[in-house]
Amino acid sequence: MTSSTSKTARWPVYLVIGLFILVTIIFIVALALTTETELVVAPTSVAQLTADTYMDKVSVLLQGADAQRGAALVEQFGCTACHREGAVNKIAPSYEGIAARAVTRRPPLTAAAYIYESITNPTAYVVDSFNPAMPQNFAQQLSDRQLGDIIAYLLTPTAH
Ligand code: HEC
Repeated sequence: MTSSTSKTARWPVYLVIGLFILVTIIFIVALALTTETELVVAPTSVAQLTADTYMDKVSVLLQGADAQRGAALVEQFGCTACHREGAVNKIAPSYEGIAARAVTRRPPLTAAAYIYESITNPTAYVVDSFNPAMPQNFAQQLSDRQLGDIIAYLLTPTAH
């Protein structure tokens, strides 16, 4: 009698453990699927990159882009807090010389493609000796027009 009572009392424990394992499996599968989709959107391995990567999108963004407006936007969106004022304390790389440097960062990406990737997917490539501290939601915050204007500005030799 005693033993049958304790058996009955134990089955909810097995049920909870079973459910826990099931939820864990579902979580892992979901995580694996998410990671796979991200890879398609943004190639992170250098082997996947070509000089054309992102360029379909970037050339559309740059059509009619205005570097002057871009100069105002990098202040409006707080980019310069890290990239101008913060550059002194090595919080972020300064924009000075970025137009020429960009093409050397992640070959074979073009300068424009590299800048586009840096803004929309900052962790794809992290500049040497800096932390991956750049906000990751600018792709959602910026309209295509604003993104194009900012890229045009950063491609100007006088960007700072
Ligand atoms: C909180 C600080 C911070 C803010 C705000 C920020 N960034 Fe950055 N950004 C960084 C850091 C740190 C790096 C270097 C590490 C890396 O590559 O992710 C970086 C890297 C970059 C690079 C690559 C620079 C290079 O020399 O290769 C570009 C381009 C860039 N950011 C553009 C922007 C733009 C445009 C904005 C605003 C829309 C912005 N960032 C806002 C911190 C910031």
